[in-house]
Amino acid sequence: MGRKRKILSFGMICILLIALLTGCEAKKQDVTTGKIKIGVTVYDQYDTFMSQLTECFVGLVEDDVEVVVYNASQSQQTQNSQVRKMIEEGCNVICVNLVDRTDPTAVIDAARKNDVPIVFFNRELVEGDIVRWDKLFYVGADAAQSGRMEGELAAAKCRREKSVDKNGDGLIQYVVLEGEAGHQDAVMRTEMSVETLRSKGVEVDKLGYAIANWNRAQAQTKVVQFIEDYGDDLELILANNDDMALGAIDAYEAAGIDREKWPAIFGVDGTDVGLEAVRDDKMCGTVYNDKEGQALAMYRLALILAKGGSIEDLSSDYEITGGKYLRLPYWKVTIDNVHDYLSK
Ligand code: GAL
Repeated sequence: MGRKRKILSFGMICILLIALLTGCEAKKQDVTTGKIKIGVTVYDQYDTFMSQLTECFVGLVEDDVEVVVYNASQSQQTQNSQVRKMIEEGCNVICVNLVDRTDPTAVIDAARKNDVPIVFFNRELVEGDIVRWDKLFYVGADAAQSGRMEGELAAAKCRREKSVDKNGDGLIQYVVLEGEAGHQDAVMRTEMSVETLRSKGVEVDKLGYAIANWNRAQAQTKVVQFIEDYGDDLELILANNDDMALGAIDAYEAAGIDREKWPAIFGVDGTDVGLEAVRDDKMCGTVYNDKEGQALAMYRLALILAKGGSIEDLSSDYEITGGKYLRLPYWKVTIDNVHDYLSK
């Protein structure tokens, strides 16, 4: 997405959010113009990746479509009322980034009662819930693949550069910075990144882990503690996302530790700030979470559903699993190809 379009779409989000914050009622669906109305609710607008994904989505909106975006501010109850409100406001389809992926009942019940299809995205509900109605779908990515790719990036660096093993003991001392407990991406990235490192022949020694909830400031605090506890022994930081990898970098920079003494730090997402850190050789690599692709898949599916079509109408462009899931692939990013992603 070009920079100009990014600014425009960000402006659109601001207008929508300001309208919501100031309590302006969104217009009822205009039956005369026949505009399709899509509602979106995001678990937390301050999450860097989610705000960029939302920007991409809003940037796709055409003239005959209207979109309202709500911020659930990390409250499932708030999100439940937002869904009910969007139904009352005449939304033809609603895209839900669940706050609590294990608690979609109120959303599903309201949607079903009013026959409004739901496209869940990014925070994957459990299979037992998605099969509860035939108009429930999911758009996201393959969480295990992102963990595998992060492990591959780290393994390639450890094998190529002997200097990663700073103390030369033949083991890579590492910590993991984990996203929210129970989030499918946090669970799979943590497990698969380490498993992949091992399967690639890198011998590892786990010093610890910390849950930092996808958050840069929380990650910085945790890494300050790791620096105190392990100092120079820490050789690798596997973060479940870029914001937490950036928090680790902040901790090393604030401690005034020279770049050559930092552990190798990896993230996932390829947010603008994450890519810049790869370009500047502060982060050793990231895994691109295809926000443009996910936003487009959500948008296309939402339009099809709003017009009474079927997810199968997208089968020539996407792999559809179980008639419900659209998953976009991830991509590995290092300093060698980061410019291709910075210009997206
Ligand atoms: C993940 C992403 C995280 C965070 C999370 C929110 O896919 O990597 O940075 O945005 O989604 O659910």
